[in-house]
Amino acid sequence: MAIIKVTSEDMRAVDAASSEMRDYFKALSLKKNRPLTYNVHTYGCQLNESDSEKLCGMLDSMGLTPTSELSADVILFNTCSIRENAEDRLFGNLGEAKGPKKDNRDILIIVCGCMMKVPENVDRIRKSFPYVDLVFDPQQLHSFPLLLRNTVRSKKQLVNISDDDYIAEDSLVPISRGRKFRALVPIMYGCNNFCTYCIVPYARGRERSRDFGQIVDELQGLADQGYKEVMLLGQNVNSYAGEDGKKFPDVLRAAAEIKAFSRVRFMSSHPKDLSDEVIEMMASYSNIENHLHLAMQSGSDKVLDRMNRPYKIADFMRIVDVFRNKVPEGSLSTDIIVGFPGETEEDFQQTLDAVKRARFDSAFTFQYSMRPGTVAADFKDQIAHDVVTDRFARLLELQNDLAYKSNLAKVGKTEEVLIEGESSTASDILTGRTRSNHLVNFKIPDELKLKNADGSFSCADNYEGMLCKVRFTHARPYSVDGIMESIVND
Ligand code: 5AD
Ligand code: SF4
Repeated sequence: MAIIKVTSEDMRAVDAASSEMRDYFKALSLKKNRPLTYNVHTYGCQLNESDSEKLCGMLDSMGLTPTSELSADVILFNTCSIRENAEDRLFGNLGEAKGPKKDNRDILIIVCGCMMKVPENVDRIRKSFPYVDLVFDPQQLHSFPLLLRNTVRSKKQLVNISDDDYIAEDSLVPISRGRKFRALVPIMYGCNNFCTYCIVPYARGRERSRDFGQIVDELQGLADQGYKEVMLLGQNVNSYAGEDGKKFPDVLRAAAEIKAFSRVRFMSSHPKDLSDEVIEMMASYSNIENHLHLAMQSGSDKVLDRMNRPYKIADFMRIVDVFRNKVPEGSLSTDIIVGFPGETEEDFQQTLDAVKRARFDSAFTFQYSMRPGTVAADFKDQIAHDVVTDRFARLLELQNDLAYKSNLAKVGKTEEVLIEGESSTASDILTGRTRSNHLVNFKIPDELKLKNADGSFSCADNYEGMLCKVRFTHARPYSVDGIMESIVND
């Protein structure tokens, strides 16, 4: 398995394939007498979302238009393999795509993403879903147009899974950004940690970092295009290792120094790599989000050791204390797995104690899911399902209470909120996030309503990406309600 850097020379063949596909779709569109569409379904984490933005960019370049209809001309599933339920959803969706494909043989069905690095999943597609046209893995994202061209030429199912790990600069691939205000910027790919429960190191390959200079150019370009929020992404963002010894704090500083960015965020941090320097930067730069996501996974040293997480819970708590001291207004979130093989009631109690001590503002809580191919899948002491669900419910109750208290502490305060758009429940309520990543839904008083030229009013279009001051009036379990006090002019 090698790490291969993709060059602009390599991309010539991809670009040629992209133009060939553009001609192919143009002819098909003329034949059908309508524009051709695509629908990308994304499962899983922000890295997958970022990959999907590239897949959409490549499909746009091939002359297709996005649609939310399932019966698009190109249907693409970008999959996640972290937990079992994501797999069930994929196979359900593939089943549903059979009807449209039967009615229209020109439809192209594509499956990519982390699940495709698990041979059992690829075998299942080969056997049970012969109408899937193309299967490829995340490592080959940049060559998608080439793989699609080969599929269309051969008129047969093409499965292309690579043994190598590629690294392609963002500048080599078109990107169709999903949000007008937020840019996802992967800075490194892959993971070397091999936590014993996790499929990611197998699915995403070895750690490889993008060029520092290229990242800085991209960031500057994004600022020039008007992006307000930038999210630096990596499975282990803190182990970034660029050219000339550049480390994660260098990337974070370069982003924070761009004053056009109102928010600089980063995901995900591993406790073994997060340095105090990063926390100090969160305290000193006002545009770095003062929210830290730090995966604890378990409160028991014995379980952490069996998970191959190389820290003790005391080390984790030391970071929590540094963060709480240096960033007192900040918020802390985490990932926790319940029911890892061999977890005793005493181990679980230690998790509950650690959660109470850390006072997480929010948490992603997971029931352990056995992932074939991982080390823990072979552990003999798997925990009974009813024990896992009982522990999970107890953890959730505790964490929900902490999340509610964190929201309650905001009530009465006024803070800056970056507006993300219309709330999902009402068209005259906006939704956004505080600098500490608290989710806020808020009303707009009449005098702050930005009307269109014709006097009409549309919430989402007029405010997305703006900063405003919001006074918080009411706490809910997962969000805070408020009212806009003013618009912040930058
Ligand atoms: N079972 C349950 N949760 C898992 N995660 C990763 N693998 C598994 C698994 N096999 C969780 C971890 C990780 C998050 C992204 O998903 O908590 O931090
Ligand atoms: Fe998975 Fe652990 Fe790597 Fe995170 S650090 S992606 S949990 S192996």
